[in-house]
Amino acid sequence: MNLTFKDFIDIKPNLKYMFFGGKGGVGKTIVAAGVAYYLSDILGKKTLISSTNPVHSLSSAFGQDIWGRGIQKIEGSKNLYGLEIDISDTVKRYKNQIREMVLTFLKYADIPLDPEPFVDVATTNPAFEETAMFEDMMDLLIKEEFDAYVFDTAPVAHTYRLLGMSKIYDLWLVKMVKSREEALSTRVKLSFRKDKIMEEVKKDPLLATLLKTREKTEVGRKLLVDKDRTAFFFVTLPLALPIAVIERFIGWVQAFNIPTGGIVVNGVVPEETCKVENPSPYLANKIREQEGYLELIHKKFPGMVRAYIPLYDTEVKGIHMISRVAKDLQEKREDRGG
Ligand SMILES: Nc1ncnc2c1ncn2[C@@H]1O[C@H](COP(=O)(O)OP(=O)(O)O)[C@@H](O)[C@H]1O
Ligand SMILES: [Mg+2]
Repeated sequence: MNLTFKDFIDIKPNLKYMFFGGKGGVGKTIVAAGVAYYLSDILGKKTLISSTNPVHSLSSAFGQDIWGRGIQKIEGSKNLYGLEIDISDTVKRYKNQIREMVLTFLKYADIPLDPEPFVDVATTNPAFEETAMFEDMMDLLIKEEFDAYVFDTAPVAHTYRLLGMSKIYDLWLVKMVKSREEALSTRVKLSFRKDKIMEEVKKDPLLATLLKTREKTEVGRKLLVDKDRTAFFFVTLPLALPIAVIERFIGWVQAFNIPTGGIVVNGVVPEETCKVENPSPYLANKIREQEGYLELIHKKFPGMVRAYIPLYDTEVKGIHMISRVAKDLQEKREDRGG
């Protein structure tokens, strides 16, 4: 079945969480913005587009100051809101949370040690930022304030690690919770107050934090693999490197059982331009190259292309251009190169 973007949205009435992946610079932000606009202003869903990218890409795409200001209504749209999370704030907050957990643990275990080295070990691993970002994202989703969420994701490798982390993190948490439960019950048992065991377990702040975090990760993982509610889209240009990137990315995402929404091919030289008489050698070359790559995309990912977004005369900046992307997303698709 060859579904267009519009078909795909139509057959998924419960679709609520959309993610965008692809190589840097291929147009993830503008495609995510176009999809968000489609959901908010054409389908009338209260939609949030959010980014954790340190580059202020949403602010730039919408031509509006969004970064670090919390949830902002997008000017010129009916039902669209934007959020650019300052990741350094998240990391700071998350680091403090871990410090508190380590302190509590040392206190409970009666270990008179400086917590800082432990905090450092826990927070200077390469996946720390991703975990912090993941937590941030979950907090946002759990609030359920919007009908639809569009995530303009960080680059491919980040997202991959993020997904991998959610599994590993969960395993780690299960273990932590179990060992805390055991440690606690020994302590409480020693106090000969068996009736107090459950009460004590519930009072342990470290355990409470761990359980809450674990609940969150569980909700998050369930949500990420839910075929009705979630879809990952991949954005590529008709060029070798971005195609190789999404091929890898699609493999990863499928390995984690994350539902794929399909591919959006961006920056396609418009058909009218391809048909001009006597094109310059440069243009003729470009067109030939593009046809080859469109064919390759078609072969590598049969039935997965949802839309072709033309290469515009200018950069995509401002709500007017974003609405144009939303319109082009709905264009009836001729399978070019197919
Ligand atoms: N189809 C297009 N036509 C013209 N300019 C585009 C198109 N798609 C993206 N751009 C421009 O290319 C740059 C990169 O796009 P962006 O969406 O920020 O990429 P990414 O989020 O993948 O890094 C931006 O300046 C954007 O305006
Ligand atoms: Mg971007």
